[in-house]
Amino acid sequence: MNVVVVGSGIAGLTAALHAYERGHSVTVMTKGALGDGCTGYAQGGVAGLYGPDDSPALHAADTLAAAAGLADAAAVEVLVEGAGAGIAELIMRGVAFDRSADGIPLRGREAAHSRARIVHAGGDATGAAIARALVSATRASAITVVEQAFLLDLVVSDGSVRGTRMLVDGVPTHVDAEAVVLATGGAGHLYAHTTNPEGTTGDGIAAALRAGADVADLEFVQFHPTILAAGPAFLVSEAVRGEGATLIDDDGRRFTFDSHPDGELAPRDVVARAIARCAAEQGSPMRLDATMLGAETLRDRFPTIDRVTRERGFDWAHAPIPVTPAAHYLMGGIVTDVDGRTTIPGLFAVGETARTGVHGANRLASNSLLEGAVFGARAAAALALPWPVESRARRSTIAARAAAPQDDSAVPFTDTVPFTDTASFTRAALQRLMWDDVGLLRTAEGLRRARDTIAVWTAQPSSARTVADHEDANLLLLAATTASAALDRTESVGSHHLETTAAPVLEIA
Ligand code: SIN
Repeated sequence: MNVVVVGSGIAGLTAALHAYERGHSVTVMTKGALGDGCTGYAQGGVAGLYGPDDSPALHAADTLAAAAGLADAAAVEVLVEGAGAGIAELIMRGVAFDRSADGIPLRGREAAHSRARIVHAGGDATGAAIARALVSATRASAITVVEQAFLLDLVVSDGSVRGTRMLVDGVPTHVDAEAVVLATGGAGHLYAHTTNPEGTTGDGIAAALRAGADVADLEFVQFHPTILAAGPAFLVSEAVRGEGATLIDDDGRRFTFDSHPDGELAPRDVVARAIARCAAEQGSPMRLDATMLGAETLRDRFPTIDRVTRERGFDWAHAPIPVTPAAHYLMGGIVTDVDGRTTIPGLFAVGETARTGVHGANRLASNSLLEGAVFGARAAAALALPWPVESRARRSTIAARAAAPQDDSAVPFTDTVPFTDTASFTRAALQRLMWDDVGLLRTAEGLRRARDTIAVWTAQPSSARTVADHEDANLLLLAATTASAALDRTESVGSHHLETTAAPVLEIA
């Protein structure tokens, strides 16, 4: 079968390698260079190496609890049952996970995990080690790699996907395929502050929306709690808190226990909100105190964070560092079954692009690389199987909702702030709007303002020529869908959190 994989993170390259190993003819098309994208930035590890006191069932329970009741238990079971094979495969492909002096793989803990079950590589450079190994396996295969290839749209005919339209080095190109696997990552650049690298603009999800695929849960955007509050967004891994670092306010008080009995190790959405609220109250960033871990441990266990914090003028071995939340991960995406099948025959989605149901309203730490490994392989295994009949019937409810007139009556707050700003669209203005109004702490008024502003911008005439123009169009479409989905969800759950009054989230300096 002739298969096109769009994207080259862990999910895309796992799908590509498995498809190739199963005898398919595989082309990987990727927006930048092979392996660019979010995977290489992941500091956290891969969850799923179970010690004697642990099991897939406990991991599943933690995943479901962090997801605030909205994860799909069957999909979570597939995820955790696949962890052993996923981690073994990464080792087989050359990822050297960290081991003790006597060669035993080290198991770390991160927030909302009840056990230490996360494997890391290079301390805090797990994603980079995985990206290197998968890129090198791909290069060593006969998989065709096309870099600088931007996804314009999916080609759908007779209800099935037949290929893609791409801009390759700026040249419009039609690519035929019997199956397309979308692995284009999330959409962190919807927001003014994000941990995601440039280019994370939701291209695959936007193309799927335009093609009529089901997309769901876009209102669930995860904000990582601890971004260094100085300079360009730089993530300070949750594993630092897993090792014992604490979060303190201006008075040195561990404030997260006010929000959750697990304090710093509460689910990520809870910790992010606690930091944002406290920072707004005190007018200064909250601080991560890792001094108790000692200079040597910090340097050896977290070499990347140690280097970057020092480059930015902090000595975290001796003084707490300022931290603040930023957009990190999209729980929603293209609706798939547990084999990556979307609602359009021939179209698969994997990794952050997909909404498999494993994350619900809030992803558990270090489940995303795992998801890419497990579901990338499963999608490849499903390529040659007959398309299940029931998948064909599902319609694009969220896409329809984004386009339909909105009914405000469902929203529990009534004092609408009228939209008055008619300034033209710019990406920066959209990112600002999303940060202020569709961010970590939301209000119904803010969501309506965002929806109305985005509608005005969407109606402005535009003609996309460059990759940046197309990315802007994708961001606008996803912003409209996200704001609409957030307005439709009238109760706070997980990462979708409604407040009665807006509280600004402190900016990265
Ligand atoms: C982190 O290291 O805190 C991020 C890991 C993740 O996003 O799962």
